[in-house]
Amino acid sequence: MGFIKILEAIKKCPQKAKIRGWIKRMREHKGKIFFLLRDETSELQCVADSEKTNKELWQMCLNATIESSVELSGTLRRDERAPHGVELSIEDFKIIGLAEKFPIQKDFSTEFLLDVRHLWLRSAKMRDALKVRDTVFRAFREFMRKELNAYETQGAMFVSGMVEGGSTLFEVPYFGKKIYLTQSSQFYLEAVMYSLGNVYTIAPSFRAEKSKTTRHLTEFWHAEGEFPWIGLKELLDIEENMIKYMVRAVLEQNEIELKALGREPKTLEPSAYKKYDRMRYEEVLKIVQKRFPYLKGATDFGEKEEREITKERKVPLLVTHYPKELKPFYHRLDPEDNKHVLCCDVLAPEGYGEIIGSGERIWELKEMLERMKEEGLSPEQYGWYVDLRRYGSVPHAGFGLGLDRFTAWVTKAQHIRDVVPFPRTLNRYYP
Ligand code: 4AD
Ligand code: MG
Repeated sequence: MGFIKILEAIKKCPQKAKIRGWIKRMREHKGKIFFLLRDETSELQCVADSEKTNKELWQMCLNATIESSVELSGTLRRDERAPHGVELSIEDFKIIGLAEKFPIQKDFSTEFLLDVRHLWLRSAKMRDALKVRDTVFRAFREFMRKELNAYETQGAMFVSGMVEGGSTLFEVPYFGKKIYLTQSSQFYLEAVMYSLGNVYTIAPSFRAEKSKTTRHLTEFWHAEGEFPWIGLKELLDIEENMIKYMVRAVLEQNEIELKALGREPKTLEPSAYKKYDRMRYEEVLKIVQKRFPYLKGATDFGEKEEREITKERKVPLLVTHYPKELKPFYHRLDPEDNKHVLCCDVLAPEGYGEIIGSGERIWELKEMLERMKEEGLSPEQYGWYVDLRRYGSVPHAGFGLGLDRFTAWVTKAQHIRDVVPFPRTLNRYYP
């Protein structure tokens, strides 16, 4: 008889079973020791009875500690009082890795739990969040492959220049030279697109953001796509369908985790099935100005404004046509007025705010050179990126979706850190 996972054991009750895992809790009571054993699938109460076990086995059970890894076997029976209504009476018990006194006992302060993140990952809260995160990453890939026939590809993390503006670049020494960590794989995707057509990537992006908010990381996981022959209209449809697909996957695969994390699945259903709202920047600005009258034309929305815009919403909001001053040089100008760009930010509901930045790219060399001049950028600095406009350029559009932010939204997390295994923020690069 081989080992089975705890969830399987619970389903197989009543029966004999061999299981292994870690001791989450243990207590001695009236000649019995109650262990709560956990693995990645579930938790099971296992009991050793001093009257029914031999001395050696009893001693072994007494020696066990919180977070020790153990292998045990015994008989499963129904017991109303046990979690999940099943209990295992221990007939054999072996400690595999005896744990020292586990540091996470009473101190549950945020800072302490971040210091011991490598151990806190074992908590139910982290496990549940990481399971949803896994679904999010997988659903994104599935959508790209199945719905868009897109190829997965990779850019470079060491880069010679900026994508999203200079203020958030991390410098890295590189054999006596100064280079940077990438802020986005977009430019590389645009290059690979000319080889593979629809392309996407999942990669880290780095931002030297000094902002200390609940949604900023210095290293985040960026899902980006780039598609030839499409414009803003088609891009918006891709984004709406993609988010719906991903939310549906989470609803289908993570009902238990969502509930445990305090996200009522019903509240996500509109984002899985209902039509999303679409508005131009100026319409949204008017709404924001009612609450923040000091905001004048052409100001970007920060965390506070986006919270205001989205807090009462049930589905994401697609905000298009920002003034060109608010967006990086590569966005294509709206030919209708040459003042706005054909871009879209997707704002998640319930106060979560921006999860996607996207738009049509300037694809004609002349427009690109003009825009760069206007922005005071030198075409030499962007050599190969500008070069792409010289050899059979085509209209194209793409997006960048922050997977950490997306996961924070669907799990209703208080802080983006809560859904990242090893979060990196302004003051934290450990463990
Ligand atoms: O809006 P951003 O800066 O757009 C780009 O980087 C484009 N080049 C993407 C593209 O078109 N390929 O970033 C895109 C998304 C944001 O909407 C947000 O979800 C996430 O990346 N993001 C962050 N997530 C966590 N922490 C940060 N500091 C983030 N900065 C951006
Ligand atoms: Mg943005």
